[in-house]
Amino acid sequence: MPTHANTPAKARANTPANGARGHDVLVVGGGLIGLVTAWRAAQRGLATAVADPRPGGGAAHVAAGMLAAVTELQYGEQTLLDLNLASAARYPDFVAELTELTGLGTGYRPCGTLAVALDADDRADLRDLHAFHASLGLESQWLNGRDCRRLEPLLAPGVRGGLRVDGDHQVDPRRLAAALLRAAELAGVSFLRSAVARISRAGDRVTGALLADGTEVAADRTVLAAGSESGRIAGLPEEALPPVRPVKGQILRLRVPAAHAPFLSRTVRAVVRGSHVYLVPRENGELVLGATSEESGWDTTVTAGGVYELLRDAHELVPGITELPLTETQAGLRPGSPDNAPLLGATALDGLLLATGHHRNGVLLTPVTGDVMAEVLASGEVPDYARPFTAARFTRQEQPA
Ligand code: GLY
Repeated sequence: MPTHANTPAKARANTPANGARGHDVLVVGGGLIGLVTAWRAAQRGLATAVADPRPGGGAAHVAAGMLAAVTELQYGEQTLLDLNLASAARYPDFVAELTELTGLGTGYRPCGTLAVALDADDRADLRDLHAFHASLGLESQWLNGRDCRRLEPLLAPGVRGGLRVDGDHQVDPRRLAAALLRAAELAGVSFLRSAVARISRAGDRVTGALLADGTEVAADRTVLAAGSESGRIAGLPEEALPPVRPVKGQILRLRVPAAHAPFLSRTVRAVVRGSHVYLVPRENGELVLGATSEESGWDTTVTAGGVYELLRDAHELVPGITELPLTETQAGLRPGSPDNAPLLGATALDGLLLATGHHRNGVLLTPVTGDVMAEVLASGEVPDYARPFTAARFTRQEQPA
């Protein structure tokens, strides 16, 4: 039997107990995932509100914006790969639609990616990854060290080879968030600029949320899209809290002065001493250098050790980075899930849906998440391609220890 959360909006009343008209949909969290959910829901005719004190902030303000379905592929994550590729394929039309509607650019840059090896072990690992790509029919091309440097002349002389992946691009998450925010406003989404104090319930049914400013917001469906915060939101029974945890990422921003341009023409990345390091060159001269991956709870401190390790590893890759002005240091929290894949759609709790747990792929998965959530909210149906990612696949008890 379908839960209330799965019931099409138009078939349901939208009047809270106090008689005031509520929203069809309340989205908790105004990051990329919350914004795209709200925008797409509003486009389907649903009266939608977003609760967030600073919409467009959060992880979107920190992330580098790599669209790296192929170069970030992990063994055993082929199901997630399909969703990642589906979202990457949507990007050109998605950003064109946003720009046409809002007049705002998103920094989408179809520049490709080069993943390089710095020693013999890295080279063997990248060769294995290349074979894995080939077995899945993914486009990636093996290059020797000299050809890597021909493509990116500032690479270290010691680079031993690499994988050229012309389909892994980038977008600027800050600009994307600004465009999504504007598009959502234009589509009629209401923005409630306050934190959520707690989710509201009437018995077993979620009915909206109480905001920190004291406002009670009534909604037929409440979508929890608060990134890692989704896992500790107040007002839900323990077993209904999604199994998402914070995974800290520290990231740096540098500037490429005109005298040093062009510095890199595409995203360059490597695994150095077991850690991912990447350099993402924006068209506007910004160079984003990321990122640590730390399981350290809710801490968002930028540490000397984090900055040191990023600069040390990136310097091994591209020695010239030490010449560039360092303009910004940031730390943010990825919403990690037990299988590194997002949780999308209805939950066992009537009226509560999830759009969280995107871990390393939040920016990449933004377009497809909007489509999935809009379909679930408007029709009650999860599209076939999103069935492996239903929110109901975990219970709190099933989390690994
Ligand atoms: N996808 C890049 C990161 O999470 O660091």
